[in-house]
Order: sequence, then C-alpha cells, then structure tokens
Amino acid sequence: MERLDKRLAATGKWSRKEARDLIKSGRVTVEGTVHRTPETKVGEDAPVMVDGVSIAADRPVYLMLHKPAGVVSSTDEPGERTVLDLLGEEYQNIGLFPAGRLDKDTEGLLLLTNDGPLAHRLLAPKSHVDKVYYVEVSGILDQEDVEAVRRGVTLGDGYECLPGELELLSSNSAHITLHEGKYHQVKRMLASRGKPVAYLKRVRFGPLTLDDSLPRGAWRPLSNKELKGIFSQ
Ligand code: URA
Repeated sequence: MERLDKRLAATGKWSRKEARDLIKSGRVTVEGTVHRTPETKVGEDAPVMVDGVSIAADRPVYLMLHKPAGVVSSTDEPGERTVLDLLGEEYQNIGLFPAGRLDKDTEGLLLLTNDGPLAHRLLAPKSHVDKVYYVEVSGILDQEDVEAVRRGVTLGDGYECLPGELELLSSNSAHITLHEGKYHQVKRMLASRGKPVAYLKRVRFGPLTLDDSLPRGAWRPLSNKELKGIFSQ
C-alpha cells in the first residue's frame, strides 16, 4: 500500500504538489470512487484514474541530462551508478532510457526518454543525427588531423568512418562533429591518429545543445522548442 499522491507522482506525470492538488480537486478516482485525501493508501494494483484516464497510460517523457563522468549510461548495471540514479523518484519506473550511449568517463548531453519509436528513429544509422563533442587529447592536433577526419578516418579494426568535421580550438582541444555513432568512436578515431583522448564531452545531439545552466548531474525536461526540433529530425 502507498499514498495516493505518491502513486500519482511515481508516474513522472505530476509533481507531488500537482498530484495533491489533483486529488483535492476531486479529479482522481480509485476503483471508480473519488478520493480527495492525498494520504489515502492504495494497493499496488488498484486502478487509479485522473479525469477518467488510467495513470498507467503512458505519457512520453523527454529529459536533457548533463551526464557527469563516473556514471554509466545503461539503466541497470550491477555495481555501477547509472544515469537513472541521478533522477528523482518520480522518474524511476516509467521506462526511461538514454537515446544513445556515452562512455562512463564521458560527460555531457544525454537525452533520456521513454519514447521508444523516437529514440529508434534518432539512433537509426540512416538518420545521421549530428553529434558534436568537445575533446582534449594527449598530443598536438594539426591540419592533418582535420583533413583525415574530413576524409573519414579508418579505425584499427578497418572500419571506415563517415566524413566528419574537426574544428581546432587549441593545440590539444577541438570540437569534433560526427554523423554516425559507433562504439567509442571519438576515442578510436583519435587513437588511430596517435592522439589519445584525455577528456570528452558531448555538447550537441542533433538539434539539442547542452544547456550551459545545467551543472554536471543535473537535468531538465526538454522545452517545447527542443521537442519540436527532435520530432522534425
Ligand atoms: N565517442 C567515444 O569515444 N565515447 C563516447 O562516450 C562518445 C563518443
């Protein structure tokens, strides 16, 4: 048994305060009966409805997370801190997963959603969603690296990367734009140039740009403009 307001908030659709207001205004039923007391205890399987719609009905959620280093992007990896551990309780059981992976030591923009079709569309190889990373290397980056990335780097296993863009920012830092997403791609591309990655942060994913005001580990729902952007990709 758990409190009705907690049950509503656990869906991720409403904050605890919004849930309490909904309940008090008589819009919530449990087994067909209106309950106006947020503290009412309800059974795990009790059918709860808001305005006649079951709270079990899926509502898609889209969050921008500034992933810190030290957490894994998979949602359940025993013994590891995952990106879901960074989110509030209300986001725990609503099927959120990252649209694309970042390595444990990579920071930056991660889109978390429970909208499978959208995520699959964004990640499909043929959709070529641009990803931009800020990268620092051990070694000196030069015009030859810029040219090599422009032509398409061949990785150690023989895979020929699609042409990308490398924009030098200093002798050891750059923005790199990729139009595909292979495992450890930036690290493997720069390793193949003899310039191992020392620091990596994703700053853009398609139309989404990492929000500067989000500290590491923080997240926020996408704005309407950002939602429009990802749906028109
Ligand atoms: N490329 C990498 O090597 N690592 C990441 O986390 C993302 C892109």
